[in-house]
Order: sequence, then structure tokens, then C-alpha cells
Amino acid sequence: MSQIHTHQHDAIIVGAGGAGLMAALYASKKSNVAVVSKLYPTRSHTGAAQGGISAALGNVEEDNWEWHAFDTVKGSDYLADQDAVDVLCKEAIDAVIELEHMGLPFDRFPNGKISQRRFGGHTNNETKKPVQRACHAADRTGHMILQTLYQQCIKNKVNFFDEYHVVDLIRVGNAVAGVIAVDVATGDFHIFHGKAVMFATGGWGRCWEVTSNAHSLTGDGAAICFRRGVPMEDMEFFQFHPTGIFKLGILITEGVRGEGGILLNGKGERFMEKYAPTIKDLASRDVVSRAIFLELRDGNGINGQNYVHLDVTPKTVNKYFELAGESRRITREDIEQKLPDIADFTRTYLGIDPVEEPMPIQPTAHYAMGGIPTDVDARVLADAQGNIITGLYAAGEVACVSVHGANRLGTNSLVDLVVFGRRAGMHIAENVPHMELLPLPKDAAASVITEFERLRTSKGKHKPYQLRQRMQKTMTDNVGVFRTEESMNAALAELKQLREEYMGNITIDDKGRIFNTDLLEAWELGCLLELAEVTAYAARNRQESRGGHAREDYPNRDDENWLKHSFCQKDDDQFRLDYKPVTILRYQPKERVY
Ligand code: FUM
Repeated sequence: MSQIHTHQHDAIIVGAGGAGLMAALYASKKSNVAVVSKLYPTRSHTGAAQGGISAALGNVEEDNWEWHAFDTVKGSDYLADQDAVDVLCKEAIDAVIELEHMGLPFDRFPNGKISQRRFGGHTNNETKKPVQRACHAADRTGHMILQTLYQQCIKNKVNFFDEYHVVDLIRVGNAVAGVIAVDVATGDFHIFHGKAVMFATGGWGRCWEVTSNAHSLTGDGAAICFRRGVPMEDMEFFQFHPTGIFKLGILITEGVRGEGGILLNGKGERFMEKYAPTIKDLASRDVVSRAIFLELRDGNGINGQNYVHLDVTPKTVNKYFELAGESRRITREDIEQKLPDIADFTRTYLGIDPVEEPMPIQPTAHYAMGGIPTDVDARVLADAQGNIITGLYAAGEVACVSVHGANRLGTNSLVDLVVFGRRAGMHIAENVPHMELLPLPKDAAASVITEFERLRTSKGKHKPYQLRQRMQKTMTDNVGVFRTEESMNAALAELKQLREEYMGNITIDDKGRIFNTDLLEAWELGCLLELAEVTAYAARNRQESRGGHAREDYPNRDDENWLKHSFCQKDDDQFRLDYKPVTILRYQPKERVY
């Protein structure tokens, strides 16, 4: 039998990406913090955010946080809560300076100031032209944030439990008492008993076939909370990043287009001129992904195949700079210095030198706009009326504040995780001393241990990878860049079937306990199936098109009926939906033109 061990800390932070580390750093100033992560911290997926973190520093041209806020609201297709967006964009400035002071090696302009580049949907609100707002460390910005914060946490004596996979939340009434984790190395169960619990476990891009997300992005935190009665907000909105490497999905940063790269179809046309005449290749991601999808559907892929080209070769880019009357030019050295990882990826995975040849790309499942609902201090909401679950926090991609609404702007994921990770940490630090340590319920780990034993010993027909492939196919075919009622009904029927097979007819090869990744992956599949179903259900329910949710049977945005957040819960195996109004402050919903 596996052993059960118990640990006690004031605050337990699940996940060691940017949000978890920022929260741990601040919470550890006044409380005893444990960070529990299924990965070694610097392997967290924040490291995959490449191109930059936006803050209206105005280092090279006029900018201000209100312009950043307007762009974020417009990018969100007016579904973002504007009070939260104000917090995001105002505090971004201070958060970036703080990271700089912690030692983050940002690229710099010759005058020593942090270098900033263009990114999709970030504009000068007066000229409507792209503005240089994305602060970056080459194309490794997220990676550098992780390294910097991890070093600071070590300095601050945060307790790390690396490769401890959290598999359940201990909820006591409307409060929490900790989490349960499996030590990957031994298979033993560990109860982390605490006054506050924070989830910072990232997204669930692995629900789809082609994704920029690492294998570890299986939505554990969201699924655990959902199973423990926490509603999921705005799950119908999942972002497809326009430029993933063809078939592999690996991210090619929007920073490539920020540096001047352009999208070309099989006829050699710069097709974004048609879809977004002012801002072209730097329109928001939902617009660009749909444009690529439509070009492919019209047979305009390269040589009739399912991809278009992203071209950053100096030969092409400089021609377009000249045509636009711009004086800037791009050189081989610019690409090697500002986009070194991209150059490396395309050389390694495609055998293509991006200085000489265009890159084959297609939209790739990238980011969950929805998730665990929170307020601006990262406190988790129990319902659409705004009641709080005492002691429970969430920040980063797993959470929905909501600052991204129906479509997130590039770079705002990193802003989100540092700003709201920090606010979570501050709130925990201030409040944990006055909070009660609730007694652990009897047999707190019993139900999750039973589920693990079922998965470990079951002798069914299907291997988890087979069910996973079927889930990914139905989500890609039916709940992708475009959806219809019919396609989502097909997805829901297949997902129901998959759930039944998962519960009753599964088997794994490794029947042991030590370092049993086969077992843990089977458990992760349960999380993905759960979230895929919530996504398809919420998407079928929303009868309009908005941001990343594009319905061919309801092609227009419908503010009269759908300017509201959806909250989805499950009671007795039945989904239940509720709605929360969108907070509108300065920006009244308008048609989006790019
Ligand atoms: O394109 C990128 O570099 C991705 C960044 C993001 O998702 O914010």
C-alpha cells in the first residue's frame, strides 16, 4: 500500500510557473509557504511564453496604460471586466520594473532602457498603428521570468516540493484545508494541510491535437476545483495562436510579426491586408487565426497543403517595409539576436533557416481565456453572485479574473501572471495570520486513493493514449477555430462515450507505484476529458460569435443577449449554467475594426 504523509504550512501554492512563484515570493514575506509542483519549477510552461510582456513604459514612443487597457478590452471583444483590466495595465508598469530590479536580463535599447517591440492588437490609440509595448528578453521572456522568480524564491526560503503531483483539493464547506499530492518518485500520497491554497497550474491545450502547450498542460488545477464544486467561467473561449509550426504546434512567437514578419498564402498574397487593412499581420489573434483557417479552407494553403507561410526573411520583409514607406530594415543579425529560439526551433524541427526561407505555420491551440473565477485579489468565487470560497486562490492561465474576456492579446498572459500572482501573494501574506487552520476531514485522501487504485488495477480494453487521441480529434474537428451546434453535439456525444470508456474500460501497462507516469497520465486524461466536456457544453450554449468563439451558425456578436460571463457547474452529473454581468467602465462595446 502507498503511505500517507502529512505536512503543514500556512499557504500551499500548487504550480511553480510565473503566477505560483510570484505569489510564493510575496506570501513568503509573512507566512510559511509550500510550493507543490508536478514539474521542476524552471520547467513550468511560463517558459514557453516567448515574445514579451507588455507594459506602457513608452521607452521608444508615446504610450500610456489607458491605451493598453483599451487595446485589451477591444481585443477581448468587450467581454473583459474593465475594472480588472485597469488593474492589469496600471500594475504592469511597476511589475516589469520590479522584475528588472530582481535581475531579469531584458534586452535594451542603445540608451539603456528596456527594449520594446510591436505585438498583435497593441496600438497607439490615436493613429491606430502598432505601438512598441512588449518588453522582452530576446524570445525567451517567459523563461527569464521563471529563472528570475525561482532564484528570488530560493533566496526567500520558500519550501519547494518538486515532482509532487497535486490530485485533489480538501474542501471543507465553503472553505479549504489543503490539497493531496502524489510523490511521483515513490507513489506515496501526501496531505498538505494549510489555511490557504492557491492554484497556479496553467491551461489545458492538450485537449486539442495541434497545440503549443507542453505535455504537462492537462488542466489539473481547474479539473480538481471543478470536481470540488467550483464553477468554471467562460470556458467556451479558448485561444488558437495563429503561428504554430505546421503539424507540431510548437509556438512561433508573434514577436516575429512584431519585428516585421508577414503571413503569405499559396498565391504569395499578404492575405491579412484583406482581413485587417490597418494593422494587417498584427491584428488580434482570433482575427488572424480565423483568416488563416479561411485561407486554408479556400484552398489557398502552400501547394494546396494545410499551412501558410510566415516570412521573416530580410529579402521579403524589407521589400514590404519599403512599400510601406518605413525606414526600418531587418538583418540576419536582428533575427539571430532578437529571435534566437525561433531560429533554433525552425532549424532543428523543420530544417529551415528562417533568415533564408519562410516557415510553414498553422493555428495552434494555445491559451484558455476561461477558468477558475476570481476577484482582483485572486480569491476564488463560489458562484456568479461573487461569493468567495474562504482561503482559496487562483492566478495565471488557470484563473479567469476576467482580463482577457473572449480573446487575449499577446504578452498579456505574462502580465496577468505577474500582476495577479503578486496580488494573490500579498493577500495571502496579509490574511493568513488571521485565518483559521481547519481540521482535516476524516479520510481526506480516501476518494482520490480509490480512484488511483481503480486506474492502476483496472483491466479494460482501452489504453489512455487511445482515448486521448480520440478526444483531441473530436475537439479539433468540432470545437476548434470555428464551431456549429451540429459539430458541438458530435463532440459532446463522443466525449460522453469517452468518459464511459475511461470510467469502465481502461487499462495501463505499469501496475507499480514507483515513478508511475503511466498511471499519472491516465489520471491527467480524466482532467482533460472533464474540461473538454465543459468547454464543448459552454460553447454550444453561447449562441453568438465573440473573440475566440466563432460560430458559423451564429456569425455575429450579440451584446443584447450575450454580453455576460458564463459560469458552469456540475450537480449530480448534470451541467448547470449561470451568468455574471460584464463590468463596463470607460469603453462601451463597439464593433471591432483592425
Ligand atoms: O507569441 C508569443 O510570444 C506568445 C506570447 C503569449 O501568448 O502571450
